[in-house]
Amino acid sequence: MVKKNSELKKIIIDCDPGHDDAIALLLAIKADNLEILGVTTVAGNSELHNTTRNARKILDYAGYPDIDVYSGCDRPMQRELFRLTGAIIHGEDGLGGPMLPPPVTPVKAEHAVDYLIRTLRDTEDRIILIVTGPMTNIAAAMEKAPDIKDNIDKIIVMGGAIFEPGNITSAAEFNIYVDPEAAKIVFGSGCELFLVSLDVTMKAMFFEEDIETLRNQGHKISVVVASLLDFFAETHVKHFGFKACPIHDALCVGILIEENLIEFKKTFVDVALHDPLTVGETVADLWGITGNMANCHIAMRVDREKFVRMICEHMKK
Ligand code: RIB
Ligand code: CA
Repeated sequence: MVKKNSELKKIIIDCDPGHDDAIALLLAIKADNLEILGVTTVAGNSELHNTTRNARKILDYAGYPDIDVYSGCDRPMQRELFRLTGAIIHGEDGLGGPMLPPPVTPVKAEHAVDYLIRTLRDTEDRIILIVTGPMTNIAAAMEKAPDIKDNIDKIIVMGGAIFEPGNITSAAEFNIYVDPEAAKIVFGSGCELFLVSLDVTMKAMFFEEDIETLRNQGHKISVVVASLLDFFAETHVKHFGFKACPIHDALCVGILIEENLIEFKKTFVDVALHDPLTVGETVADLWGITGNMANCHIAMRVDREKFVRMICEHMKK
């Protein structure tokens, strides 16, 4: 059953499963202090019908049919969906590797953007948004209903690269690159924003021995996560040349479980939109030359061992 309790942090996860999104969902399910109000999906790692089906598939497999999934935007706000690398990293259907049973629970009929607006307007508690794909749904909801920002407690985004190179171009990280206009809207929203960027996700990777630890735990969820990571490691070695898994998105959930998992620093960040060489780059005003107010907590350091322990412990609960 879904956890409900006034003490729990109320979250909505907006995602594009995707292997690391799927593990982020499983971590949030297993976390003792989080209540997942709903899951919204967006086109990113794969087409929307795949990311939606994959979210439903992983929730049903984990035994959580009562966590609702709402399908959202099938393309970025102003651009075509970038299709070059999603399938290379995540497989043709966005969740390559283990053959999970097809989902049985229907996806909700309400559009994810309308669900976000309705839920943020109706809630008494402020809600944490965890965004692990392109920010299209979140930006669209903010544009359609600016008042919802008042009920957003914080937005935790997997995206960007401040000191690290990008992973889709040398300047840009995938989620921001796919929909930079949406990212610019969210960065300019005034909401409290935590940017879990490649600067930390690439320093908290799972290696083969960590995957074996998960597999040897024997628990149904632990074993399927190991199998997802087997696939993820293979595509990473082929595309990036290293056999390891940056479980990027799960770190966004991890900081709600252990707030000192990542060390942040507040600064002003903006998104490059126009030059083909830099579009999607997240640029931090580290020397304060813009005079702009800080709008984002950027990730400076991560405790990899703590993250590996967290994933292993939660995947056998
Ligand atoms: O750059 C990594 C991000 O892009 C992750 O969220 C991954 O799932 C992909 O969406
Ligand atoms: Ca993702």
